[in-house]
Amino acid sequence: MKIGGKSYRTIWLNDDGWSVEIIDQTKLPHRFETITLRTLADAARAISTMQVRGAPLIGATAAYGVALALREDASDEALDRAYETLAATRPTAINLRWALEEMRHAVRNQPREARIAASYARAAAICDEDVETNRRIGENGVGLIKAHADKKGGAPVNILTHCNAGWLACVDWGTALAPIYRAHDEGIAVHVWVDETRPRNQGAFLTAYELGAHGVPHTLVADNTGGHLMQKKMVDLCIVGTDRTTANGDVANKIGTYLKALAARDNGVQFFVALPHSTIDWSLADGSTIPIEERDPTEVTHMTGRLPSGEIRTVLIGPENSPAANYGFDVTPARLVTGFITERGVTPATREGLALLYPERAKSAA
Ligand code: MRU
Repeated sequence: MKIGGKSYRTIWLNDDGWSVEIIDQTKLPHRFETITLRTLADAARAISTMQVRGAPLIGATAAYGVALALREDASDEALDRAYETLAATRPTAINLRWALEEMRHAVRNQPREARIAASYARAAAICDEDVETNRRIGENGVGLIKAHADKKGGAPVNILTHCNAGWLACVDWGTALAPIYRAHDEGIAVHVWVDETRPRNQGAFLTAYELGAHGVPHTLVADNTGGHLMQKKMVDLCIVGTDRTTANGDVANKIGTYLKALAARDNGVQFFVALPHSTIDWSLADGSTIPIEERDPTEVTHMTGRLPSGEIRTVLIGPENSPAANYGFDVTPARLVTGFITERGVTPATREGLALLYPERAKSAA
C-alpha cells in the first residue's frame, strides 16, 4: 500500500539483513513513524503494546521475533524460550501460535549453524505468503461487492466494517478490506462505514487512515450507529476480519462484532467474514473456549487524540474512580455469518463449508 506515494508493507527486513522495521501503529493516524526491532524483547513488546496488531501481522512479527532470538542464541532452549515469550504476548489471535509452530518446524531439525538463515527465510516466506493470500481474498471477495453494484445500477455499494482488518492488520492488502480495495481499483463504486471501534479506536485511527490514503470513500461512525444504518437500508453488506475462527465456523473478532452480526441478521443484511487459513483453529470445536483478551481498563477510561496545536494528549473521560472492564474480543456464532471469504474461495460459515475448502486440515479437526 502507498503512503505519500511510497509503497510500504507493515513489516520488513532492513538493509543490514537482520534487523526488522515496523510501522508504529500506536502513533497513527497523526504521525507516521517506524521502529527497529533488534531483539526478541523488542518483538514481544511491539506485539503486546500493539505497535503491531491485527491477527496476521501479529503472526508475522512473532516469526521475525524467533529469528531475532536465534541470532543471539540458536540452541533448542533459546528456541523454546522465544516460542513461550512470544506466545504469551496476546491470547486471542491464533495466527500467533500458527506462525510460531511454522517457525519451530522450519528450525527444529536444522543444525545450529543453519538455524539463523532458516528462521529468517521462513519469516520472510510467511510475510510473502500473507501478501499473496490477502490478494486472493480480495480477488475472491470482489464478486460479492460487484453483485450489489449490479443490483444498484452502479450506485455506490455501502459496506460496513469493524475494527481494522486492512493492510495495517496484515503484511499488505488486509483481509476484510482486500475485496474493498480490489473493487475500488476495478472502478466499482464503494463507500465504507467505518466503526470507530472503542476502546482503542482501530477503526478511527487505522481503517479511516488507510482507506483515505488509498482514496476509498468512507465515513467514520460511532460504534453504536450500525443498527440504525442497517434499519435505514444504508448498509448493503458487512465485511469484517477475525482473530480466530473455530472448526464449526464461530468467529472471534474485535469486541462489538457480535452486535453488528445481530443487527445484520435482524435487517437481512449479509455479514461476511474474510480470513486466511492461518486464522482457523482446527483444534477447537466451537467458539465457547476461545481465550478472550482482557486489557488494561485505562484503555476504556481514557482517550487519546490530537490537539489543534498538534500535540498528542491522553485524557480521562469518566469519573476518577469508576471501575472499567476491557474485553478485547467477542465471539459471533457461525449461524449469524453469511459466509467466509478465503484465499481458496467463498464458502458457507459451517463445518462442512470450511472442510470443503481445507480438506487436508479438516481431517484433524476437533
Ligand atoms: O486488537 P487488534 O487490533 O489486534 O484486533 C484486530 C482485529 O480484531 C481484526 O479485525 C482482526 O485481527 C482481523 S485482522 C485482518
